[in-house]
Amino acid sequence: MLGKRILLIIGGGIAAYKSCELIRLIRKAGGEVTCVLTKGGAQFVTPMTLAALSENPVHTSLFDLKNEVEMGHIQLSRQADLVVVCPATADLMAKMACGIADDLATTLLLATDKPVLAVPAMNVRMWQHEATVANVATLRARGVTVVDPDEGVMACGEYGPGRLPEPEAVMGAISAALAGEKPLAGRHVLITAGPTHEPIDPVRYIANRSSGRQGFAIAQVAAQAGASVTLIAGPVDLPTPYGVARVNVETAREMAAAVEAALPADIAVMVAAVADWRVADAGAQKIKKDGSGTVPPLALVENPDILAGLCASPCRPRLVVGFAAETQDVIGHAQAKLARKGADWIVGNDVSGDVMGGLRNSVHIVSADGVDSLPDLPKEAVAAALVERIARVFV
Ligand code: CTP
Repeated sequence: MLGKRILLIIGGGIAAYKSCELIRLIRKAGGEVTCVLTKGGAQFVTPMTLAALSENPVHTSLFDLKNEVEMGHIQLSRQADLVVVCPATADLMAKMACGIADDLATTLLLATDKPVLAVPAMNVRMWQHEATVANVATLRARGVTVVDPDEGVMACGEYGPGRLPEPEAVMGAISAALAGEKPLAGRHVLITAGPTHEPIDPVRYIANRSSGRQGFAIAQVAAQAGASVTLIAGPVDLPTPYGVARVNVETAREMAAAVEAALPADIAVMVAAVADWRVADAGAQKIKKDGSGTVPPLALVENPDILAGLCASPCRPRLVVGFAAETQDVIGHAQAKLARKGADWIVGNDVSGDVMGGLRNSVHIVSADGVDSLPDLPKEAVAAALVERIARVFV
């Protein structure tokens, strides 16, 4: 992102306020932003806000003489590495699909020869309307990258796909677009996800609340970034992300063997909530009550530490990322695990609430360089942010 120039076109929708945070993130990552604000966009954010955040003039009108003299509208897109439309409204995308050029934004979009990334946000029925579906298909066929919107409760109170993805996720899409879509092409990424089940007998097991969602989301984003992804999954009920090779396992020892079999890898992201202990002597038959009220003793033995083993292995991937599920002192514990396990980064997450099994996550990426704390985000956005940071290591 360092030194890259983004021409950001802000359409007219309530999600326009999120473009302010996007500008901040692009600049934090070393990019430069020039904003074009549509008439509709100006109903939601002001040129003053955008100018202050981007530290660049904001362009609003095609027939602004000062703008034309100082910076012709063709010149605006010529100076950009990437044109980002965020939020891309149904109306803006319809105009793009039809080649209508009736304001500065649409004229630029018709005139540009730079890659275009559109980040739609609209009401669910507008997104699902066949006119929008056809427009999106047309734009994609012409090479425009159209990011899929998030699903959730919308500003209008309805539920469904149409929400603007969180700015962190948009950043991931921008990085991918700048890197020609495939920043992890040619890299093998090994990911563990989900819980492990440790049998007590053929019908009972020890488990934990991990849903596998965070690891699966990372696998999906890494595959979209061009990596070849091996996802070693504990028992979870989630579909395999597109383009990902999945290996299903039950126990920690099976997971350890699958990790070893999947090597070599360039990157390992160990998200699985591996059971620390297993039952020493899992019964071959179901344990029965004997009627005396005696509780069967369960002797536990420690499972192999897959992450520590991988870090010490001669086949250690170049970048090893572990997770630390904690209920208190998240950063402190993550720092201790970083040293103890020999990982490059530990992603500490607070699992004291409903993170395990939930849809959102609040993480701190701890490394020798310090702590990079992300806001509370959907797990997909955490995945995008993490993969974006991983991709930066391999630029
Ligand atoms: N991990 C692993 N193998 C284990 C235990 C943990 O590979 N047997 C990995 C996890 O996938 C995660 C990291 O180690 O990336 C930290 O896991 P966590 O359960 O938070 O830590 P533990 O090492 O189990 O320590 P504790 O339970 O004391 O917090």
